[in-house]
Amino acid sequence: MSEGRLKGRRIALGVSGGIAAYKAIEVVRQLTESGAEVRVMMTPEATRFVTPLTFEALSYQPVAADWLAPSGAGERHIALAEWAELIALVPATANTIAKVAMGLADEIVSGTVLASRAPIVLAPAMNDVMFTQPQTQDHLDALRTRRAVIVDPATGRLASGKSGIGRLAAPERIIAVIEAVLAGRRNLEGLRVLVSAGGTREAVDPVRYVGNFSSGKMGRALAEVAAARGAEVTLVTTIPGNSEGIHEVPVDSARAMLQALQAAIDRTDVLVMAAAVADYAPQQVAETKVRRREQPLDLHLQPNVDVLKMLGSRPGLFRVGFAAETDDIRAQAGEKLTKKQLDLIVANQVGVDGQGLGSDFNAVTIVGSSGVIAEVPRLPKWEVAGRIWDAIDACRNGLAPAGQ
Ligand SMILES: Cc1cc2nc3c(=O)[nH]c(=O)nc-3n(C[C@H](O)[C@H](O)[C@H](O)COP(=O)(O)O)c2cc1C
Repeated sequence: MSEGRLKGRRIALGVSGGIAAYKAIEVVRQLTESGAEVRVMMTPEATRFVTPLTFEALSYQPVAADWLAPSGAGERHIALAEWAELIALVPATANTIAKVAMGLADEIVSGTVLASRAPIVLAPAMNDVMFTQPQTQDHLDALRTRRAVIVDPATGRLASGKSGIGRLAAPERIIAVIEAVLAGRRNLEGLRVLVSAGGTREAVDPVRYVGNFSSGKMGRALAEVAAARGAEVTLVTTIPGNSEGIHEVPVDSARAMLQALQAAIDRTDVLVMAAAVADYAPQQVAETKVRRREQPLDLHLQPNVDVLKMLGSRPGLFRVGFAAETDDIRAQAGEKLTKKQLDLIVANQVGVDGQGLGSDFNAVTIVGSSGVIAEVPRLPKWEVAGRIWDAIDACRNGLAPAGQ
């Protein structure tokens, strides 16, 4: 997360008593690093897992833990409730979730939540059985209907030693959701998004392929931002990663990518084709390894499958394409938009050092049917992804600025 993104934002962070309490330390550290003012409050149980001193040192603020101890500062939960722009419960235990859902207020965390009208972000962490019990799920549903945002736990090794759902979400994911809520951008809830990413690999023989320099980072950033804004996201990628909260499908060739996309397209509202699909593939794939010889080797390439064409369009499906161009990017993008029946195209200039293919940065021009919608300067790919989703959202809702 880049510095300054949450500059001056006031976040009350409630820690409750679970094993993952120690992970809240990293969340506080990253929040303060991004410029947020963080005030930590802890349940009495949480203070048995981690000391308030650690949070105090990282947040540069006293920690509110024992609300019955005289502090000379009046009602601390009311002061905190009025101060906070957002309350984040990290981790949220099953017990604290139940209390907050039912309106109990018997210590400072639940007391502050009940006294506040600020938006709430909850990151549950617990044993898988505790999490999947109807009691816990009912409480989470009740909170959702009151517009609390739940950052679903991840699946993996739990404190008990077995594997299951219940691990606290990664700090980056929790912070991305907090950022989206504070920016009023949880606007993709209920939207089904399908993103393709990475460069396809077209086999030459069992050990070699024809590929390109795409790192899959732009597509992954688009998938992660969409998930942070509330969308249900499937990422079909040639570069596997471990983004949480996203359904990831690993593929290699253009044909495999097409198959994976076809399997998901009927349940998709927005398709974002950020993958660099090879335009050409070897005409024949050798069954055994091609041996080295002293003569030149001729590799015959044929036009590859046209993934966008094969996927087709249908009413209700919003299609976004990418154009990586080395020259005349606006004209090329406009042409591709019409030819491929896209609703939006994101054009980026490749061959510029420090941005685009393989880089963590990008600069793009977003073009719609009426012309250029936005020129996004060189920014981290995560922020470029945010601007692209702003444009998609505006276009889908008929709010896109007129073309230039
Ligand atoms: C060693 C230990 C680990 C625990 N880990 C969790 C946990 O990860 N998640 C959870 O919901 N409860 C966990 N609990 C249970 C809570 O600590 C217990 O429900 C407590 O009352 C929570 O209080 P609080 O919600 O006010 O912080 C754990 C308990 C113990 C003793």
